[in-house]
Amino acid sequence: MKGSSSRRHFIQQMSGTALALAAANSTLAFADQWQNRVDGYSRKISPNDKIRIATIGMGIMGYNDTNTALKIPGTELVAVADLYTGRLARAKELYGNNIQVTADYKEILNRKDIDAVIIATADLWHARISIDALKEGKAVYCEKPMVHEISEGQGVIEAWEKSNKTMQIGSQRASSLGVLKAREAIKNGAIGQLAMVVANFDRQSALGAWEYTMPTDASAATVDWKRYITGMKDEPYDPKKFFWWRNYRAFGTGVAGDLFVHLLTGINVITNSKGPEKIYASGQTCYWQDGRDVPDVMAGVMQYPKTADHPEFQVMLRVDFISGNSESEGTQFIGSEGVLTLEGDGYSIRHHKMSKAPGIGGWDALETYPKKMQDELLKAYNQKWSDADQKDQTEPDTVFRAPDDFNADVEHFGHFFEGVRNRTPVIEDPVFGFRAAAPCLAANESYFQNKIIRWDPVNMKLADKLL
Ligand SMILES: NC(=O)c1ccc[n+]([C@@H]2O[C@H](COP(=O)([O-])OP(=O)(O)OC[C@H]3O[C@@H](n4cnc5c(N)ncnc54)[C@H](O)[C@@H]3O)[C@@H](O)[C@H]2O)c1
Repeated sequence: MKGSSSRRHFIQQMSGTALALAAANSTLAFADQWQNRVDGYSRKISPNDKIRIATIGMGIMGYNDTNTALKIPGTELVAVADLYTGRLARAKELYGNNIQVTADYKEILNRKDIDAVIIATADLWHARISIDALKEGKAVYCEKPMVHEISEGQGVIEAWEKSNKTMQIGSQRASSLGVLKAREAIKNGAIGQLAMVVANFDRQSALGAWEYTMPTDASAATVDWKRYITGMKDEPYDPKKFFWWRNYRAFGTGVAGDLFVHLLTGINVITNSKGPEKIYASGQTCYWQDGRDVPDVMAGVMQYPKTADHPEFQVMLRVDFISGNSESEGTQFIGSEGVLTLEGDGYSIRHHKMSKAPGIGGWDALETYPKKMQDELLKAYNQKWSDADQKDQTEPDTVFRAPDDFNADVEHFGHFFEGVRNRTPVIEDPVFGFRAAAPCLAANESYFQNKIIRWDPVNMKLADKLL
């Protein structure tokens, strides 16, 4: 889509009222920024100016991330690492025989001609590979959650700071236009004072519950199991712990680390928050009895403290893997004057302001008093409050939709490569990534230890020692 028509389309997607009009100037500025970036993606880049990338962890997200990264002009895939031979063979089928394939990611990090790596392994390897890559001078795009354990966070941040390299965490929601516009709307007072956020992922399928299709040749000969469990107590090859690793705490981070983290990323961006200070979770493994040691239904409550950027508010999170609500997800910001609901790369706001008058009659004590007293009370009330004061104040809904050709995944990689090329700050650096991940990992601790976890979101430290 050409610049001006795309911009026009973008503005047309804004509908509604005073808020939309009030926000029009900043919307224009934002649309321009976005359009410039899209124009930048399509510029010609000389072969000498290419960013050479490699992907470590070539599973579902490794392929998705690689394909998205290659949509950004000026990127070239030169190597991949994975621990299952079938996925290395697939990489050659898709990207050609010239790319290097290896089980040992360090062979990739040793190459001087590679500028950036995408890390899309199972969660337990994120911190280790990120630190190794930064030490070797690579820029890093690491999938969420940034770390497998809270104790790994500071190490990754320090390695990143020391390296002076670009690092972006892969919760692409941070780059969603809907999320960024929702931040603007809430800041402009569209829902009054925020008090509560309610967010969920509901699923109703084996694939949704992480029982992915296994390869027919899965065995200790095709999977480098020994390398996979490096640093752990030795245990025999187990295909489920390799291909369905999310279901095991030793390898994944359960529904909290995997899915709460997407929700918290959106919430932290929209409220410009550093995160909660009190975290509690409960759950159960109620349907997918496949040997997993993490819950398949989980509820979390997080309390965000008052800061200069936002009032105190509560976050209620839900993941339900056997939900009659089918496959759905959502986040609602509930304020004193309305509700903002995220909808894909957009949002809608239902405005509703309390009436000025407190109300009288109906479900009230009025009718329990003597008739004469009721009449006097009603007369005094109607004298004090006008008709307008007695009505709830509503406005038409406000709706925002990103342009059809907007894609948060491409945008997220766009930010990353822009950072690699021009040293510009990315939208989701390791400090942001850790602040989104740690409370989710703390939710797991809460569930497994049956206690409230206290977190210091500013200094990024647990306030209580975890036993
Ligand atoms: N941002 C998103 O929307 C999104 C979506 C899905 C997954 N993810 C994240 O992406 C990551 C990968 O998830 P997935 O669904 O692709 O898993 P997957 O099981 O499909 O793939 C993981 C791959 O990592 C490889 N691997 C593991 N340890 C390795 C190591 N030490 N060296 C090299 N390769 C190694 C495995 O061989 C496997 O092929 C996870 O951290 C997940 O949370 C993010």
